[in-house]
Amino acid sequence: MSITVLPIHPLFFAEIRGVDLTRPIPPGLFAEIEAAFNEHAVLLFRDQPVTDADQVVFSGYFGPVFAATRYSWRDERPRLRAEMADISNIDHAGRLLAGDDQRRLHGRANQLWHTDNTFKHIPARCSILSAREIPSHGGDTEFADMRAAFDALPEERRHKIDPLIAEHSIYRSRELMGFTDFSDAARMELPPVRQVLVRQHPATGRKALYIASHASHIIGWPEDEGRQLIEALIAFATQSRFVHRHRWRVGDLIIWDNRCTMHRGRPYAEMTERRVLHRTTVSDEINTVERANL
Ligand code: OGA
Ligand code: MN
Repeated sequence: MSITVLPIHPLFFAEIRGVDLTRPIPPGLFAEIEAAFNEHAVLLFRDQPVTDADQVVFSGYFGPVFAATRYSWRDERPRLRAEMADISNIDHAGRLLAGDDQRRLHGRANQLWHTDNTFKHIPARCSILSAREIPSHGGDTEFADMRAAFDALPEERRHKIDPLIAEHSIYRSRELMGFTDFSDAARMELPPVRQVLVRQHPATGRKALYIASHASHIIGWPEDEGRQLIEALIAFATQSRFVHRHRWRVGDLIIWDNRCTMHRGRPYAEMTERRVLHRTTVSDEINTVERANL
């Protein structure tokens, strides 16, 4: 048995055919999927009516599955099992969230360019997103190739940024969305962490920009200069030539490599239409600064 790999974008993002994700994947077949994942960084599987349990099993082939981040300050009753991040605009009873529900505000932070969980000491290796309900218009997800973006930087710039370390915090991306009203207790729950600014992919050796809207500044630099550098790098790395926009269909499942891509959700009629996706997140093994110092 073997898979078919259909590259969709010249730099990254491929569709995989010939695999049923509702069934166990034999090791030989998984090795082919993993090779495609390492090469293309984002893989799309269409027509995969997976259950949450199927999705957790598939995710587990890539590494340890994180429990989704639950915040004590987000007074909510989770709709999904512990491993699933709820990327939706509905509540546990299946109703559209109220206009002022906190979950809507946090959902909107996904519309900033980012890669998942850089605000955790051990960030995410990859994320797996399964489309359960999709609005009639909008709500696409865009992906950007941070390997290609790094390669396209002038050599001098690559050299200069290579050793830098950035501070990341979930409160930075929330601040960019205009909300800053968090208690000290909330801030203590997810304190800022350090991540390298350029990371090398363990499987391919390719270097990639490791940036996100959670990155606030550069360690050892004046805060405004660091902020400017991060903003400039995000703007550079998300030029249209590095970006692929995915129009979802129900049954699509996408896995992306958080170590070498960024992504963001696009707007849709979120007050009137439902958008329901379930995400699992596979943990990296070590903090990126600690890895670089090994
Ligand atoms: C995510 C995410 C964007 C979207 O699930 O991690 O950022 O389009 N999603 O829903
Ligand atoms: Mn995300």
